[in-house]
Amino acid sequence: MPELLQLDAVTRRFGGLQAVQNVTLNVGQGEILGLIGPNGAGKTTLVNVITGVHRASSGRVQFEGRDITPLKPYQTARIGIARTFQIVQPFPDLTVLENVSAAALFSQAGMRQSVAREFAAAQLEFVGLAQMADKPAFSLTLAMRKRLELAKALAMKPRLLFLDEVNAGLNSTEVDHAMVLIREVAARGVTVVLIEHLMKVVMTVCHRVVVLQNGALIADGTPKEVVNDPQVIGAYLGKKYAQLGNAAAAPAAEAP
Ligand SMILES: Nc1ncnc2c1ncn2[C@@H]1O[C@H](COP(=O)(O)OP(=O)(O)OP(=O)(O)O)[C@@H](O)[C@H]1O
Ligand SMILES: [Mg+2]
Repeated sequence: MPELLQLDAVTRRFGGLQAVQNVTLNVGQGEILGLIGPNGAGKTTLVNVITGVHRASSGRVQFEGRDITPLKPYQTARIGIARTFQIVQPFPDLTVLENVSAAALFSQAGMRQSVAREFAAAQLEFVGLAQMADKPAFSLTLAMRKRLELAKALAMKPRLLFLDEVNAGLNSTEVDHAMVLIREVAARGVTVVLIEHLMKVVMTVCHRVVVLQNGALIADGTPKEVVNDPQVIGAYLGKKYAQLGNAAAAPAAEAP
């Protein structure tokens, strides 16, 4: 698998706290990579560093062989990196369609408004929100806001997509729908990094899983390998997933 994203010894400090510590990691073209770990492990911070929300304190980020360490969010968006936000943050008074159009325009300089709207409408259709297109974003349920986040990210035409807890707070039917969407996105050729606490999703959807603890990578392997890794069991999962690791899908983890 050719490398799409390469992290070399990436560190991010906040004052005395090392939120991300010396992370070296490659993400291959076409992968669905799970990024898991306890609350506060540094998962969102790592995405923030890659997408340019936070600058790396040290280390290097490369995308398609190009050093993107100093880029700002609008610049990483324009080269094909998109993300959803863990705390969903639509413009509440804009319509659902306007929110997605704004994302398209943010990432594609010079796109005509009419083209952006058309493209946005197609993304809403894809995530199953077409009927809400003209409603204000504040009127959406949590599950719908999560789908709106996905539509906004897809409107950026990403080649690399970070999904930060897109299933948190959803019921099992909604999670099943989200898993179908994630696989369809990947089937379109988008490389996906999935930050996820629901092990059912991780076990079902991911090709490979990496585990962060206290900002450092502690495991990298297939879902089955990772749930059987003693360090991961001790740090995060407990033993029940090791026993269930041979099943195609483990039950959802309890809320962390
Ligand atoms: N902007 C910030 N300023 C200061 N500290 C921060 C900032 N962002 C994150 N942190 C700290 O960095 C650490 C890693 O946080 P982060 O949000 O990346 O964890 P996470 O793995 O995404 O957790 P969760 O599973 O709860 O979303 C935490 O100790 C957090 O308090
Ligand atoms: Mg997080």
